[in-house]
Amino acid sequence: MQSLSERTAGFTDSVIRRMTRISNQYGAVNLSQGFPDFEPPRAILDRLAEVSQEDFHQYSITWGAQNLREALAAKQSRYMGFPIDPNGEITVTCGSTEAMMAAMMTVANPGDRVVVFSPFYENYGADTILCGAEPIYVPLTPPDFRFDPEVLEDAFRQKPKALILCNPSNPCGRVFTREELAVIAALAEKYDAYVITDEVYEHIVYAPHRHTYFAALPGMRQRTISCSSLSKTYSITGWGTPSPRRRSRTGSKRSTTSSPWARRPPSRRRSSPD
Ligand SMILES: Cc1ncc(COP(=O)(O)O)c(C=O)c1O
Repeated sequence: MQSLSERTAGFTDSVIRRMTRISNQYGAVNLSQGFPDFEPPRAILDRLAEVSQEDFHQYSITWGAQNLREALAAKQSRYMGFPIDPNGEITVTCGSTEAMMAAMMTVANPGDRVVVFSPFYENYGADTILCGAEPIYVPLTPPDFRFDPEVLEDAFRQKPKALILCNPSNPCGRVFTREELAVIAALAEKYDAYVITDEVYEHIVYAPHRHTYFAALPGMRQRTISCSSLSKTYSITGWGTPSPRRRSRTGSKRSTTSSPWARRPPSRRRSSPD
């Protein structure tokens, strides 16, 4: 039998799933997988029951249903502080997972370099491999997981096409300050790099920290693809929920969330570790 693709040959089992399996096996507290510890809002579950009886069972528009994009644009405009065009700047994907993959495939050619803060959410490793890009890791140093601006500039001197910014960050929980984001923004501008953000934890931030949207920094709107998701905010990680991505389908920037159908009922999420 012929071998499978070289592209996926180096892939291993997901570390997160492996830790989930082991923690289930030993009855441990599972800190590896991002299950919110609160229930989905009643309104969202009731609405799901209602729409199952309505006429929404056929293909949607490729980049997301009009009413969903309008709702996402209105919500993100309110939080990001600038108007977002639902027709030009929002693309709906199946979760931030697809949004990040699509964003990287859109930006990076094989051989391009991409800056990744480390430790990083494991999907970025696979995303980088799938687009043939070469990661440049910049450490976030414990105990407070800050980066050294000099080390970051060294990474930018290698002419990366993009930087991946997970903020608030998984796995280290770092919420980048406006000042830190301004350092990243200045370097992105100076070295002409894109910034792809993963902001799935945008609404799960604890005082005194505050979430700052990278795209909202001066000059960054046109340089940023902002990815986020409904899955954490609404505790519906088991749905293939719509993720808004802010980047134009024609080449200028917009924003993403996850897909509009349920893959698995949320009530089963804890008993389906695999
Ligand atoms: C940083 C980060 N991005 C993306 C995801 C997955 O998001 P989604 O469920 O929207 O695909 C997770 C899930 O743990 C995550 O921690």
